[in-house]
Amino acid sequence: MAARKPTGKLLDLLNQAIAREIQVSVQYMWQHVLWKGVKGFAVKDALKKIAIQEMKHAEAIAERLNYLGGVPTTKPAPIFVGNTLREMIRQDRKDEEGAIALYKRIIDTAGAEGDEVTSHMFREILSEEEEHHDVFSTLLEEI
Ligand SMILES: [Fe+2]
Ligand SMILES: [Fe+2]
Repeated sequence: MAARKPTGKLLDLLNQAIAREIQVSVQYMWQHVLWKGVKGFAVKDALKKIAIQEMKHAEAIAERLNYLGGVPTTKPAPIFVGNTLREMIRQDRKDEEGAIALYKRIIDTAGAEGDEVTSHMFREILSEEEEHHDVFSTLLEEI
């Protein structure tokens, strides 16, 4: 059992996280489908792999939110696919930056509420988001 009843603030942050995870899993999947040009070869497998990781994040966060008594959203944050490869990956890097900022907030909020499990879970997810950010940053140098 959770140490204390979570606040509405934490539950709301978890739903924001879920909305973002659904957004990027669809976004990266469609970018993987719609990539074009020779340089697209460098990015399509990375997009596919990361899209699957984001879906797993959405599921894990939704399970946690459900356990804490919240109702997981089914609505993604606005999806931006982009037209050129550069436009796509630039947006993706920005979205990873948004995830990193939000997950640091969640780690702090959960910690302040004595919810060590949520805090720990988001530390692990955060390290994957930092890897994604690194992948997109490296790809942007190549395309
Ligand atoms: Fe994620
Ligand atoms: Fe990510």
